[in-house]
Amino acid sequence: MRRLAAIVALNDAGVIGRAGALPWHIPEDLKHFRRVTMGHAILMGRRTHDSIGKALPGRRNLVLSRSEAPIAQGAERVADDALPMVIGGAEIYRLAMPQVTELFLTEVHRQVEGDAHFPEFDRHDFEERSRRPAETETDVEFVHLVRRRS
Ligand SMILES: NC(=O)c1ccc[n+]([C@@H]2O[C@H](COP(=O)([O-])OP(=O)(O)OC[C@H]3O[C@@H](n4cnc5c(N)ncnc54)[C@H](OP(=O)(O)O)[C@@H]3O)[C@@H](O)[C@H]2O)c1
Repeated sequence: MRRLAAIVALNDAGVIGRAGALPWHIPEDLKHFRRVTMGHAILMGRRTHDSIGKALPGRRNLVLSRSEAPIAQGAERVADDALPMVIGGAEIYRLAMPQVTELFLTEVHRQVEGDAHFPEFDRHDFEERSRRPAETETDVEFVHLVRRRS
């Protein structure tokens, strides 16, 4: 099977975003994101690209868009969706999840209001390969899931 990974930070209710941004500020998660995605092609929706505001260095930045919305210098607009590392947001996770074979979850055990959610998925379809608590936050865990072969 072709490998396709997604990386997401979500709370226990699946909230991933609010008003076009992240609903929290967790520097250790940003470092984790940088480490896990570095050197990979990253695929994101145009609104997530807008919220980042630039092309992330050291990675091929692929931005899914149907519009002519401007894209930052160094990023590439794509119309295809079958690419290596999906970094959101909600619409793009929904699009990619059926093909995703690996998930890097940051579980944020915090109650937050949100208007963007990660799609529901069956945890039993995935095997938990690792889980480690954040060092700088008491309510955050980094989890690596790999889809079970059916
Ligand atoms: N917690 C996390 O890990 C995480 C990660 C990423 C994002 N987020 C959050 O998620 C939220 C953004 O998510 P969102 O659902 O609003 O937007 P999004 O998924 O980032 O982007 C949606 C845009 O992608 C383009 N698009 C969607 N489907 C397409 C297709 N089939 N073909 C071509 N282009 C397509 C469209 O762009 P055009 O309008 O240009 O056509 C659409 O407006 C923000 O709050 C962000 O902070 C959280």
